[in-house]
Amino acid sequence: MDAAVQTVEVIRQHLIDPEICIRCNTCEDTCPIGAITHDARNYVVKADVCNACNACIPPCPTGAIDNWRQVVKARAYSIEEQFAWDALPPQEDLPVGAGAELPPEVARVTAEAAAGQGGAVAPPWSAAHPYVNLYTLDSPAIATVSGNFRLTGDDASSDIRHIVLDFGATAFPVLEGQTIGIIPPGTDDNGRPHHVRLYSVASPRDGERPRYNNLSLTVKRVTEDHDGRPVRGVASNYLCDLRKGDQVKVVGPYGTSFLMPNHPGSSLLMVCTGTGSAPMRAMTERRRRRIGLKEGGELMLFFGARAPGELPYFGPLMKLPKDFIDINLAFSRLPGKPKQYVQDLIRARAADVARLIRDDDCYIYICGLKGMEKGVDEALRDVCRMHGMDWDELLPLLREKRRYHVETY
Ligand code: A2P
Repeated sequence: MDAAVQTVEVIRQHLIDPEICIRCNTCEDTCPIGAITHDARNYVVKADVCNACNACIPPCPTGAIDNWRQVVKARAYSIEEQFAWDALPPQEDLPVGAGAELPPEVARVTAEAAAGQGGAVAPPWSAAHPYVNLYTLDSPAIATVSGNFRLTGDDASSDIRHIVLDFGATAFPVLEGQTIGIIPPGTDDNGRPHHVRLYSVASPRDGERPRYNNLSLTVKRVTEDHDGRPVRGVASNYLCDLRKGDQVKVVGPYGTSFLMPNHPGSSLLMVCTGTGSAPMRAMTERRRRRIGLKEGGELMLFFGARAPGELPYFGPLMKLPKDFIDINLAFSRLPGKPKQYVQDLIRARAADVARLIRDDDCYIYICGLKGMEKGVDEALRDVCRMHGMDWDELLPLLREKRRYHVETY
């Protein structure tokens, strides 16, 4: 390089759009290197820490996270500047000759995202158009509770509830697989408003009750953290204690990826644990309401819970016709029985799972505990090995074909 030519390093600075962000804290929780922080107004990204790994991009419900500006490195926006923003600044012109090349790390990540590895998977080609961000923190929709029913048995260790929200005259269109945000009232110990909490919708697009402007949620009362230490989940306890007639502030809807196919003959392979069943219930119920149309396609469900009394929707599930849905329940805490997880049943049903994996009209959905993701991935790898396919080659293709959708927490 000619030593006389001074290069001005340009970076692609990661920013969060304060106009869209709902302050749900998902990005800060997800960032593996602590590059995201917040104050009472905004969530912001530290330019000197962010390595553009993109881990925070898919989980963000609103897309506020996916904003970038080319800036001269020495003049990157500081977090103090970002805290003061009401809106993102426009892309500024760069000095002539600045940043002829992207830093290698950024170039790699950008290319990978474009190739569809990592990042959110596009929805099935035949999915309906989802509406997103219709209601925001500044102008939430107000829903009225029209039902709150316990789904788990009286002697069950968990309190999981089916909560029905009615939107009255307010338009709140949702599709199966989308989420909504709930704003718990009050403030946290530091006097800040609570974060928005996200819940998957458990009812189909035409409402919990067909043609009513309502939807349902599957909510587990959180009483302990992932390590079993006692905690009191702010939003889940608020929701589980709601009574008929109470009013709730709702933002959203969100989600443009975990959507079901609509074309006749399309099949669903669904894997879930616990409250991860919410989107599966929504999709199954959508298909059940259309049984008479004889559109074809198969439904296969793998569902894990501690015991039947802990499995949301156990009763209604058991009543579904066997030729409508192939149900495989894995129970992990049945007295005197070996622990069973969904991945064990996927292996046990390898021939049918392999057939559905080969079927380009079959879409795969995985929702529930984070730990399950790895177990299911390994089970699918085994299924493929047993049936002459290579999972590592197949997975990127499934994502590219919009056939593989994962939502874990
Ligand atoms: P476990 O009895 O080992 O906790 P929960 O009731 O906590 O929501 O969990 C739902 C189900 O998911 C339970 O049966 C639980 O079993 C199971 N589970 C826990 N960890 C995993 C995992 N890594 N893979 C699959 N299932 C799991």
